[in-house]
Amino acid sequence: MKSPRARLFVALDLPEAMRAGLVGWGREALADPTLRPVRPDSLHITLAFLGWLPEKRIEPLAGVVRGVAGLAPAVELGDPVPRPERGRPRLFALPVASPPAVGLAAEVQRKLAEAGLYESEKRPFWPHVTVARVRREERGSQRPALVARPPGALPQALLQPAVCRRVTLYRSELQPQGAQYTPLAQVELPVAGRQ
Ligand code: 2AM
Repeated sequence: MKSPRARLFVALDLPEAMRAGLVGWGREALADPTLRPVRPDSLHITLAFLGWLPEKRIEPLAGVVRGVAGLAPAVELGDPVPRPERGRPRLFALPVASPPAVGLAAEVQRKLAEAGLYESEKRPFWPHVTVARVRREERGSQRPALVARPPGALPQALLQPAVCRRVTLYRSELQPQGAQYTPLAQVELPVAGRQ
């Protein structure tokens, strides 16, 4: 029998105030009926996507995540962009400007690869926060619906840098109403200049 598997990823969690701000912004900006906003507690920056792994890999993975070191990175969000860029978008995401978060992702990926738990992706790392996915045009179709009112710009308050302290290993369970992410292991990173 095949061993049970889990869909896993490691993410940098957004600070609570930033999540709350995004939820407030999204009430208007993500109100188009074709959009399915990401749940507030699911807003994150993926650092390493592991895909489907045997459940017995969860413990060693959790150990690697708890051992992640380094300072908590400050991140700056950008205004929403569609993905893909051409044709009908499937999702809208906020690009993240943060050299330290890119460094942290490289560090996490290296540690996971050393432990034999990760194969680096061919596509370059693109730090982002997905804020909404586009519903299908109709049942049974794979084509995304046409979004009449795409999300507009972020307010000034959400463009300010914010420090992200928590790195989390998540299990993703795909459900018809959207993915459910369950935290399995976490580490809090120290903030520069604080004891
Ligand atoms: P997305 O939000 O841009 O779709 C759980 O699915 C998390 O892992 C999401 O943040 C998702 O990014 C990301 N993810 C899913 N598939 C991925 C892949 N092949 N490479 C990198 N990240 C992926």
